[in-house]
Amino acid sequence: MELVLIGTGHVAHVLGKEWKAKGHRITQVWGRNPERTAALASLLDARPVVALHTLSVTADAYIIAVADVAVAAVAAALPPVQGLVLHTAGTVSLNTLAAPGRQYGVIWPIKMIRKSMDRLGVCTVVVDGNTPETLARVTVLARELSAQVTEAGDEQRAKMHLMAAMVSNFTNHLYDLANQYGTAENIDLRLFQPLIEATAAGIAAQQPADQQAGPAFRGNYDTLERHRALLQSYPELLRVYDTLTNSILTRFGHEKLP
Ligand SMILES: NC(=O)c1ccc[n+]([C@@H]2O[C@H](COP(=O)([O-])OP(=O)(O)OC[C@H]3O[C@@H](n4cnc5c(N)ncnc54)[C@H](OP(=O)(O)O)[C@@H]3O)[C@@H](O)[C@H]2O)c1
Repeated sequence: MELVLIGTGHVAHVLGKEWKAKGHRITQVWGRNPERTAALASLLDARPVVALHTLSVTADAYIIAVADVAVAAVAAALPPVQGLVLHTAGTVSLNTLAAPGRQYGVIWPIKMIRKSMDRLGVCTVVVDGNTPETLARVTVLARELSAQVTEAGDEQRAKMHLMAAMVSNFTNHLYDLANQYGTAENIDLRLFQPLIEATAAGIAAQQPADQQAGPAFRGNYDTLERHRALLQSYPELLRVYDTLTNSILTRFGHEKLP
């Protein structure tokens, strides 16, 4: 397929590299910054384009991978293209892309994407389309990114986006908090790598609640107070600790912290 990438950020880089590796041709790259646009176009053997309205109209798909707030304005400024017009956002409505006669859809990879990644790797890709025929075409393109493709409308996709924040952004933030604490207390986060991996792998085989462990799960208030004493000079971390501890305590039928 001939693909046009709109945007020069993390997602444009990685999807571009992935589709190119799968044998598709990235014909043009548009970006608002000329240097970044030229650099990504050169990486993907594509032509850089500076004015949206001058994009070729004959590509098979136009992938709008710009900041969420800019998707609508970019979609509205496209010339009357024949191919699919897609965005890559978890929370932007499908109809943001609507235009007379246009086939439009969503291709949202559920992954934290950074332009330094050579390939996308394993992830679920969520798709949507304005007609069943469009959806089928979007699905073909998504299957080039991942074997795990699922359909969802705006409302369901927004809920998935929220869940992604919980299972990825929040857990990663906890790793960051633990790492900051460990750095201050001279304890290497890498010691916990096997524990982190075993916890994540465990939920493939059982419900998260069924593998819960720890002092809050057991209602062991003495240990909880010892942990809290260690956090007296880390007020922000103590606040997070108390919130999560109370959540686990009540989930497993115990009283909240006094
Ligand atoms: N990164 C992820 O983990 C991830 C995962 C799945 C989906 N997504 C979605 O993918 C899309 C792109 O995300 P990203 O992470 O690639 O973002 P990003 O790295 O921040 O890149 C955003 C791109 O949008 C451009 N842009 C920003 N404001 C603009 C405006 N007003 N008009 C035109 N262009 C504008 C930026 O141009 P400049 O370089 O000139 O600022 C840049 O090319 C978003 O919809 C995001 O929700 C992201």
